[in-house]
Amino acid sequence: MAHINKNYLKLPGSYLFSTIGKKVREYQEANPDSDIIRLGIGDVTQPIAPAIISSLHSAVDEMGSADSFHGYAPDLGYEFLRSAIAKTDYQDRSCNISADEIFISDGAKCDCGNIQEIFGLDNRIAVCDPVYPVYVDSNVMAGRTGEYDPEAGRFKDVIYMTCRSENGFVPELPEEKPDLIYLCFPNNPTGAVIKTAELQKWVDYARKNGSIILYDAAYEAYISEAGVPHSIYECEGARECAIEFRSFSKTAGFTGLRLGFTVIPKDLEADGEKLWPLWARRHGTKYNGAPYIVQRAGEAVYTPEGRAQITEQIAYYMGNAKIIKEGLAKAGFEASGGVNAPYIWLRTPDGMTSWEFFDYLLEKGGVVGTPGSGFGPAGEYYFRLTAFGSRENTIKAMERFSNL
Ligand SMILES: Cc1ncc(COP(=O)(O)O)c(C=O)c1O
Repeated sequence: MAHINKNYLKLPGSYLFSTIGKKVREYQEANPDSDIIRLGIGDVTQPIAPAIISSLHSAVDEMGSADSFHGYAPDLGYEFLRSAIAKTDYQDRSCNISADEIFISDGAKCDCGNIQEIFGLDNRIAVCDPVYPVYVDSNVMAGRTGEYDPEAGRFKDVIYMTCRSENGFVPELPEEKPDLIYLCFPNNPTGAVIKTAELQKWVDYARKNGSIILYDAAYEAYISEAGVPHSIYECEGARECAIEFRSFSKTAGFTGLRLGFTVIPKDLEADGEKLWPLWARRHGTKYNGAPYIVQRAGEAVYTPEGRAQITEQIAYYMGNAKIIKEGLAKAGFEASGGVNAPYIWLRTPDGMTSWEFFDYLLEKGGVVGTPGSGFGPAGEYYFRLTAFGSRENTIKAMERFSNL
């Protein structure tokens, strides 16, 4: 008789976006003339930049000719892309990372979710609360956590690191020692960042305790201020304790094209074993790589033309973020984020819960955001807006906020 992986049954179900969808549908049915503005979803809206599209077209043409056709990609990804990444994202920022320490993939979600496979089930994980749910759920599926406690809204045997305005949404070093530490900066959902000196403390802590930091830098391209690290490898000793994830999704609009990468330094060890060969083995066994044409599109992100175009796109979104921040301040809301990240994290007014505010904002303003409690119990009384909408809708949404 076949048996299921019962760990899956521990998951309470991802109600967040389906509940949002249902509420919006019901509202729309009851108010057919309503003009709803969606600032909830974390997906980009701008088309792919012309330099990237042009590279994609050429690569498609190559695939149609016997002498330039490409079959299976090399296990780690194409050298042309790994070299461009190593140079631009790391070496030019004085980070000692080489091309053969980069594993190309079809996005950061898969990598963040799969990386736990190379670690033993007896590892204790630490995550922020609120959190991007993939880190927790993938460990639940693997059996690395206890049961879900519905009252606490948390899984047993997980170290939760609370992030609220009191600590600037940057967690304190946990007293209980974790083996694996998930950090994400710039942060989804709070939009918070960590300063280099602060991140260095985490690196020192991890080295002292023999922990591994799993550093998600999917929003690195949105950093605008000095003193905010683009990579954990800007910290001394990070090669000995950190793995980094990056994504082309929000950097260059690849949410539909799919491209990302993971960095594992060759000398990084746990249990006296190198991690690079374990991930290489996993990659080679379970994965056949991002498509050639998409890797060529990714290469174009690193050309001067591509770089200029994506910089302009990010500036557009961050222009929206500025409008949201200013609009919220004018309307009397307390809000953070939106300076080095495309997310704005606001405190709900008058002690409303996140879901009460969701309903209120939809009914009174016709604006959709994301309730903070959907990212963890510490997100209660907070609400996430994204800068990924159109300029026109962002301005309109803020007018509606001022009339709430
Ligand atoms: C923090 C974080 N990491 C990873 C991802 C996933 O990125 P990708 O589209 O590359 O899978 C997201 C997407 O929303 C994210 O918010």
